[in-house]
Amino acid sequence: MTETKPRLLSGMQPSAESLHLGNYIGALLSWKALQETHDAFFFLADLHAITVPQDPAELRANTRRTMAQYIAAGIDPSKSTLFVQSHVPAHAELAWILNTLTGFGEAARMTQFKDKAAKQGQDAASVGLFTYPILQAGDILLYQAVDVPVGEDQRQHIELTRDLAARFNSRFGDTFTVPKPYILKDTAKIYDLQNPTSKMSKSAESASGVVWLLDEPKVTEKKIMRAVTDTDGEVRFDRDTKPGLANLLTIFAILANRSVDSVVEEFAGGGYGTFKKALAEVVVGTVAPIRERTLELLDDPAELDRILAVNADRAAVVAEATLAQVYDRVGLLPRRR
Ligand code: TYM
Repeated sequence: MTETKPRLLSGMQPSAESLHLGNYIGALLSWKALQETHDAFFFLADLHAITVPQDPAELRANTRRTMAQYIAAGIDPSKSTLFVQSHVPAHAELAWILNTLTGFGEAARMTQFKDKAAKQGQDAASVGLFTYPILQAGDILLYQAVDVPVGEDQRQHIELTRDLAARFNSRFGDTFTVPKPYILKDTAKIYDLQNPTSKMSKSAESASGVVWLLDEPKVTEKKIMRAVTDTDGEVRFDRDTKPGLANLLTIFAILANRSVDSVVEEFAGGGYGTFKKALAEVVVGTVAPIRERTLELLDDPAELDRILAVNADRAAVVAEATLAQVYDRVGLLPRRR
């Protein structure tokens, strides 16, 4: 008898040409391991990506590029279900139902909305940006996911998802699995190299603080050598007084699969330059093969599209079954001939 594996789901927005080291460490690296132990669904959140203004041709290209980076980083579309959100219409459909169960004040408390809206100017922010976390809740609940591996910045959205699932279940009967956030403490937040108290982000003010997976190796090396540290010159881990160095030590330890203590011990006697040089080697050693494989995959867009289509079919079977049950529970009249 085959044991059923726990269901897992996660996604990213295809909102930049390249993913960055925060996405890799905070998400992809754990996804790769988790696909072995879970029935995993990974998707590209293109409907989320249009909650801020987008260029249509760029979005299409970035969706393929992000998919290629998933595969290049080790997500295997024959083990995991790897698809584009808009290819499965049930996402938008369930989001509508969940919209009707979400309080206005509840949605207004979401800090990511407040941050993003502040960046754009309150009046420019769309209603889609406001209801973004509700679409995200739909993504998760459609697949009855138990585990949702994300970085710390997504915790509040997973909490909302849990609240909505429990509310639906108590009002309409047991329908949804209540998911758990799966947040790996050490990797949950990678910071900007130039501004080490802000998270590394696709929308960073300056590109020099963000290590893009598709940067040329020379560029990556330069960014690391120029990363902001401090003036005391001592290699030791202190998140409060030495945030820049703490971030670099975290990145080294994770990518080299070592403890922070052992990295500190190795570099304690030397200056920052020696440490950064070694770190640049570790980062380039991880990122350069992903870049090369991504570029190879992008040479054959028809094959990528074929993989996405097959995977979307697999995803749709699960999603449509949940949606049908939801429509029934809510009391929508079925269309019958
Ligand atoms: P997105 O595209 O902003 O980020 C994708 C994943 O990368 C993680 N991440 C980081 N981890 C560590 N350090 C960082 N500096 C860093 N920056 C980003 C994020 O936590 C995330 O796990 N709303 C989601 C996409 C989404 C989703 C979902 C995720 C839509 N529906 C359903 C899970 C389940 C987002 O914008 O991720």
